[in-house]
Amino acid sequence: MLATDRHPEGPRFHQRSEGSCAEGYEPPHLVIPSSSKRSREPRRNLLSALMPQSTKSHHITITNITKIIIILRYVPAVVSNVYSALPALMEPMAKPNIKVFDTTLRDGEQSPGCSMTVTEKLSMARQLDRLGVDIIEAGFPIASLGDFEAVQAVAREVRRPVIAALARCTPGDVERAFDAVCRAAHPRIHCFLAVSDIHLEYKLKISRESALAQANAAVKLAKSLCWDVEFSPEDATRAGLDFLCAMVETVIAAGATTINIPDTVGYAVPTEWTNIIQTLRKQVKGIETVTISVHCHNDLGLAVANSLAAIEAGARQVECTVNGIGERAGNAALEEIVMAMRVRGDRMPYTTNIVTEELHPSSQLLAGIVGFPVQPNKAVVGANAFAHEAGIHQHGVMSNPLCYEIMTPQSVGAPGTRIVLGKHSGRSALVRRYAELGVELSRAEAEAAYWRFIELADRKKNIYDMDLLSLVGAQVRPAPAAASAAMHAVAD
Ligand code: KIV
Ligand code: ZN
Repeated sequence: MLATDRHPEGPRFHQRSEGSCAEGYEPPHLVIPSSSKRSREPRRNLLSALMPQSTKSHHITITNITKIIIILRYVPAVVSNVYSALPALMEPMAKPNIKVFDTTLRDGEQSPGCSMTVTEKLSMARQLDRLGVDIIEAGFPIASLGDFEAVQAVAREVRRPVIAALARCTPGDVERAFDAVCRAAHPRIHCFLAVSDIHLEYKLKISRESALAQANAAVKLAKSLCWDVEFSPEDATRAGLDFLCAMVETVIAAGATTINIPDTVGYAVPTEWTNIIQTLRKQVKGIETVTISVHCHNDLGLAVANSLAAIEAGARQVECTVNGIGERAGNAALEEIVMAMRVRGDRMPYTTNIVTEELHPSSQLLAGIVGFPVQPNKAVVGANAFAHEAGIHQHGVMSNPLCYEIMTPQSVGAPGTRIVLGKHSGRSALVRRYAELGVELSRAEAEAAYWRFIELADRKKNIYDMDLLSLVGAQVRPAPAAASAAMHAVAD
């Protein structure tokens, strides 16, 4: 059967070359972005429920007397309906779900030194599936044969999420992208074209009119191949807002289903995001039929804050990467966005489909694959994210972790709280560690050990269990737990 036969909107399908997707093509399932429509439904129903039944069907003659009669007749009914609907009004509205679009395998891979082989991309894609991301952008198929094959492999094997492939707005790119994802259970073609004057003039050397025409043609071609089409106006945050609106309106008319607004060079600040998203929602015809997405780079360290501002203004898809890897200073970090919304659900009442316990394993797997270590103080997944060295903090955490931890290590799949012994540590953490090592100290011995420990910590960055034992002239006790604990470094 030809793909055209089963395409939901019945558009023209291009005849593909030998070995391309036309042969044995399995058509995509429909992925209909309806979250925004869905979230408005209850409100509309509620308003209609507030109207007295009879006003819905009656036509009213337009004379003042009839109007007065109607007001007198129906106002009490409306008031009474409002009153009886109050409990429903006070019930919490369903929280909007934010789609997580992971671009670790595409934008992340574009970080210097982060390129991945087909096998590595596949194993990361399987982990992203376990993590629960909604969309995996698996690569940029026109870029190389390796990238094409990686996208194809991910599309064939990872069946739950949408699999997206990136394409510039040219027929060759769009067709290559489709050939790579066409066997996915849920394929998406992601087209992009620059909209800022600086990119149009110096990089593409085309006019605004040509850009509109090129985007229109590419999105139409993509739509003829695949129902799910995303469009990104590159460098949107440095473009004129009117032209951005014109571009977005053009590609929506051409069939785009997701409009992703990229801050390509990490230039925007959060308040600008509010304005951009609100302006698009006010001015662009058809915007309510698509999912608005945000894609932020981290050149000023604002990628996560900007993404959250865009979500608050109405974006319902967020593009991000594990560990925040990506071009230059990276992309918005997936784990930070997700945990910010989860920990501060009181201020950001949104849900995601992310299995947060898979955040740390995902971070570790990626670091191993790209050979790019996670900075120790990285939020959520860094080695120090749940480590405490200062005595005051250690004391607080030992009596209740909530004193200095706003999420549990378990909630992000991290190994646990770590009490690190260093020169800022206090007596209670030291005595506790000795007890864990099977060494009971009298008060006087503990005091003496503490001062010897502080003196050592002033000279040495890392204090190991063996160091602690030698400070008190003790041996590791034979008890298995104590013996194995002693083999572990207290601080790395
Ligand atoms: O940063 C960017 O503009 C991009 C687009 C391709 C979405 O990565
Ligand atoms: Zn990017």
